[in-house]
Amino acid sequence: MKFLIHTYGCQMNVRDSEAVEAMLLAAGHAKAESEDDAELVIVNSCTVRQKAEEKAVGKTGNLCAAGKLTGLMGCAVKRLGNDVFKRLPKLDFAVGPRAIGLIPKIVADGCFPRLELGEEMMSDALSSHVKGGFQAFVTILVGCDNRCSYCIVPDVRGHEYSRPAREIVAEVRSLVSNGVKEVCLLGQSVLRYGLRNAAWDDADAPSPGGYTEPFPRLLEALASIDGLKRIRFTSAHPKGCTDELVRAYQEFPQVCRHLHLPVQSGSDLILADMGRHYTRAEYLAATAKLRAMDPEFSLTTDVIVGYPGETEEDFEATRSLMDAAGFDNSFIFKYSPRPGTRSAAKPDDVPTAEKERRDQVLLSDQERRGLERNRRLVGTVREVMAEGPSKRNKARWSGRDGGNRIVVWDVAEGEVPASAGSLIKLRIIDAHAQILVGERE
Ligand code: 5AD
Ligand code: SF4
Repeated sequence: MKFLIHTYGCQMNVRDSEAVEAMLLAAGHAKAESEDDAELVIVNSCTVRQKAEEKAVGKTGNLCAAGKLTGLMGCAVKRLGNDVFKRLPKLDFAVGPRAIGLIPKIVADGCFPRLELGEEMMSDALSSHVKGGFQAFVTILVGCDNRCSYCIVPDVRGHEYSRPAREIVAEVRSLVSNGVKEVCLLGQSVLRYGLRNAAWDDADAPSPGGYTEPFPRLLEALASIDGLKRIRFTSAHPKGCTDELVRAYQEFPQVCRHLHLPVQSGSDLILADMGRHYTRAEYLAATAKLRAMDPEFSLTTDVIVGYPGETEEDFEATRSLMDAAGFDNSFIFKYSPRPGTRSAAKPDDVPTAEKERRDQVLLSDQERRGLERNRRLVGTVREVMAEGPSKRNKARWSGRDGGNRIVVWDVAEGEVPASAGSLIKLRIIDAHAQILVGERE
């Protein structure tokens, strides 16, 4: 059967869609060229904000109306429960994020039952990859137990669970033997790896470098894999910014000097209400440690504007924190109450127009800050992993430096461009807020 998967949401969802694609291909199905060509369309949904959920559910409704065989997977399914079939009466099947391993069986059975929303975590779904790329996502931990006041994720992705280190190392080895050069380790809070359930056991060899914390120890084990050029990871909580983590960044050149460290707010009052378990000063201490190690260490973040009770003063505290941390990039979200979360019980009292204004202010601050940060790199030489021709301009190639900054460079006519997945040196000759321009050394 020819299938197509539409993905909304974060990298976790991108990864889940890849796993479903790999499982369906292994079961003998084929990827469709387009929606018209597809016999089965699956929508992988997000529910982190109301708009995100509406987009995915709306798209699914359109597909159902067009008479396609349609499945819905992902976070919105878990939040909506069996109501999903009331919202979408023509939907053929629905599975939550921890039940995606059931999809090949549902498709094979062919009768498309209105499935009870399963909770099975299937190792097939955690470890299936589509062959061919030089980059791969590897799930190291699923779920989250942080319970930030605004966040629906613990309800939809379940409890935190770390995969055994041995399984992850074996998976990465096999990816590398199939041509992968860069892995991105995924989890809601990767620095909590191995803290809730043990990921290492007595049968594992001790850490050669004397690492005692499970996540840095995992980095050490992965850095010993020949042929693996880059290790990235996301997303993180500042509590995990330990000295051992800093040592791992320093010791292993494969570990990219970038951290996506969502701060959410720069106001201590708001941070406490959110249940983030750090203060503004503690957050800044964590970022200062990383920048002391390497001034070009790339820091990116997520911020919520218009959280219940957020005053002008709280907002200004967020603005000043963002300047103090010197974020290379940031993602700004307007607060959206999610049913059942703690903050949803509070009045959503920042007017929409004010949320919009705060959003715009932070975006334009970031534009200026991103440009300033990037300009510092002009004249320096960066190591870039070549990815392929730039989407906008085919005479250019595009890649990323260790800080996850996009770098583009001209490829002269007749010149053989670098192969995708190779590391090359580029001298930076120009900088924009979101892009660097380089030339071959
Ligand atoms: N409203 C707005 N933004 C949210 N995020 C998570 N929950 C909400 C919400 N209820 C943002 C956070 C998180 C990012 C993935 O989405 O900033 O880091
Ligand atoms: Fe990712 Fe959260 Fe959206 Fe789920 S709800 S796809 S975990 S951002």
